[in-house]
Amino acid sequence: MRSACRKLFILGVLSTMFLPQASPAIAAEPAEKAVSPIFGIAVPGGYRDWTLIAVSHRTDNKDELRAVLGNPAAAKALKKGTLPLPDGAMLAKLAWKREPMPEFPGAFKPGAPPRIEFMVKDSKKYASTGGWGFARFIDGKPAGEADHNTCFPCHEARVKGHDFVFTRFAP
Ligand code: HEC
Repeated sequence: MRSACRKLFILGVLSTMFLPQASPAIAAEPAEKAVSPIFGIAVPGGYRDWTLIAVSHRTDNKDELRAVLGNPAAAKALKKGTLPLPDGAMLAKLAWKREPMPEFPGAFKPGAPPRIEFMVKDSKKYASTGGWGFARFIDGKPAGEADHNTCFPCHEARVKGHDFVFTRFAP
């Protein structure tokens, strides 16, 4: 009896330690929890610390600087050229408006980020889109379903032979 009471007491203490803290944390980060339509992907935690795969630059009307990052599974596969990428591989595409660097003429720096995008590999869950789930966030909020219907067709049309991934590991 005594040890049962003690267990209950410990459980009670533990639940008061964790429960009240869990709810405000969720309430404070609604954008982190929002998921993309169709694919149900939230912003992956810690993505900003992933490995740099390559940078790119669009000179058309978008005029953006971009960086593609990969989590450890994606970075390892792309570095070695192992295709298809394994389940659990994740890629992030960051973009910024290209802005002149005030301190040095002819140099440019990242301005406001118009969006962030992710690709998550799960060959079973996303079998109908080449094993990839897609997610686009604008100001921390998932973009709409129409946006998400465009992702796979463009990646499929251009880079089907590279596991639907444009970016190669830059030396
Ligand atoms: C019209 C073509 C097109 C569409 C539509 C498109 N992408 Fe891409 N995507 C690209 C190109 C080109 C790149 C190469 C990097 C760059 O553009 O800077 C790329 C790169 C990426 C990358 C980095 C991995 C890679 O393939 O290089 C991610 C992540 C990504 N796109 C996510 C998305 C998501 C999410 C959507 C839909 C909301 C989407 N893309 C729609 C053309 C497209």
